[in-house]
Amino acid sequence: MNASPPVAGIAIELLPIGSVPAEQVEALLDRAFGPERHARTAYKVRGDAIALPQLSFAAIDGGMLIGTIQCWPVSLRGDDGATTPLVMVGPVAVAPDRQGSGIGRLLIHRALDAAQDAGLSHALMLIGDPEYYGRFFGFAATATGDWRLPGPVERHRLLARGDGIPAVAGDLGPADRPARTG
Ligand SMILES: CC(C)(COP(=O)(O)OP(=O)(O)OC[C@H]1O[C@@H](n2cnc3c(N)ncnc32)[C@H](O)[C@@H]1OP(=O)(O)O)[C@@H](O)C(=O)NCCC(=O)NCCS
Repeated sequence: MNASPPVAGIAIELLPIGSVPAEQVEALLDRAFGPERHARTAYKVRGDAIALPQLSFAAIDGGMLIGTIQCWPVSLRGDDGATTPLVMVGPVAVAPDRQGSGIGRLLIHRALDAAQDAGLSHALMLIGDPEYYGRFFGFAATATGDWRLPGPVERHRLLARGDGIPAVAGDLGPADRPARTG
């Protein structure tokens, strides 16, 4: 178990997300993003994958779930024939009544540290607000302009980080999707 880092004068525990009942995680995601979240392109990118357990965390305060982060195995199949495994970061969700007090940053830093420990931090991507993920974590849209996704995306919100990010045209999708035919 991690030490409890202080946030705004309170003690938050970060635990592996598997230590929290899945229904609680889903309920928090519904509160943060709305129940229509399943139709988002990010869900199509990750497909039926299971969140990477070593990169996914729950923030607990006084026994209450107040935040989550999940990361997923995805890949870019470049038009050049190369397939690059990537980690998709997020969703990051903080309970609406706890937003703006550093919990999101705490969760993301924990996941980025875990990615570093796992040797996976060279190729990270996410769909999110550059005003947040660029400002605090150095994600940028510079390499992703020619990526094709299985749904609509605002290009400036398709962000990546790491020296293993392929700045090539290609299809982004689940890491274990069937090989392209034809
Ligand atoms: C986005 C989210 C994860 C951020 O976590 P948080 O704990 O609320 O935010 P933090 O305390 O880490 O960071 C707060 C700072 O980030 C800024 N910020 C928060 N969300 C932002 C966003 N979507 N875009 C730009 N800036 C944002 C705040 O203005 C604040 O800036 P300040 O310190 O200058 O006042 C959280 O608000 C949330 O769950 N939102 C709803 C779900 C969502 O939209 N998630 C994905 C975002 S792409």
